[in-house]
Amino acid sequence: MRKLKLGVMISGSGTNLQALIDACVQKDYPAQIAVVISNRPGAKGLERAKDAGIDAICVDHTTYDDRASFEDAIHQCLKDHDVGLVCLAGFMRILNADFVNRWKDRMINIHPSLLPSYKGLHTHARAIEDGVRFGGCTIHFVRPEMDDGPIIMQAAVPISEAETEDSLAAKILHYEHEMYPTAVRLIAEGNVRVSARKCVFKDIDLDTAGLISPAIK
Ligand code: GAR
Repeated sequence: MRKLKLGVMISGSGTNLQALIDACVQKDYPAQIAVVISNRPGAKGLERAKDAGIDAICVDHTTYDDRASFEDAIHQCLKDHDVGLVCLAGFMRILNADFVNRWKDRMINIHPSLLPSYKGLHTHARAIEDGVRFGGCTIHFVRPEMDDGPIIMQAAVPISEAETEDSLAAKILHYEHEMYPTAVRLIAEGNVRVSARKCVFKDIDLDTAGLISPAIK
């Protein structure tokens, strides 16, 4: 089986990266990680990659004159590793439109909210503050606008009365880890493609059960 080569970009802990590493060790998984790139030298995800025997490279944004040269270095690194799909997994730098367009429909991101709600930072705290019943996470193809682009997968997670930012983050992270390898599989197996502003799927029923909170007794 010819596997899709992933370039995973991180800034921190890399638990989503770990979920991808764990999926990629399965023999029948249709993707492999060619390189992990972090913009932060101390990112724990770099250790996770090294432990798994994956090329782990730090492209430290603070050592570049401007964003364009930082992004050129990342682009070159991805090219050198023959990457077919870029996976942003907790990568916390904004990317220029030039870079994003070079990887159009070949770069995905995971964001901890039900997009298009709660773009940006502090998504869980804002959702709790607003009293919405569901938080969640989204995996989407990347477009130049921040946290924008055709949506591949989403998980909706009920927000409890006693919810804190940390407890909600932990609940949602669990679904992030389930979804990321699944979304990559969908792409690698050719089961999802972009049509205008949306993703369309092959042979997948999107009509799943609805969720109500509070539950109706
Ligand atoms: C994840 O919750 C991810 O959704 C979020 O950062 C965390 C990274 O965790 N991404 C963003 O906020 C991007 N806007 P991880 O390093 O343990 O995978």
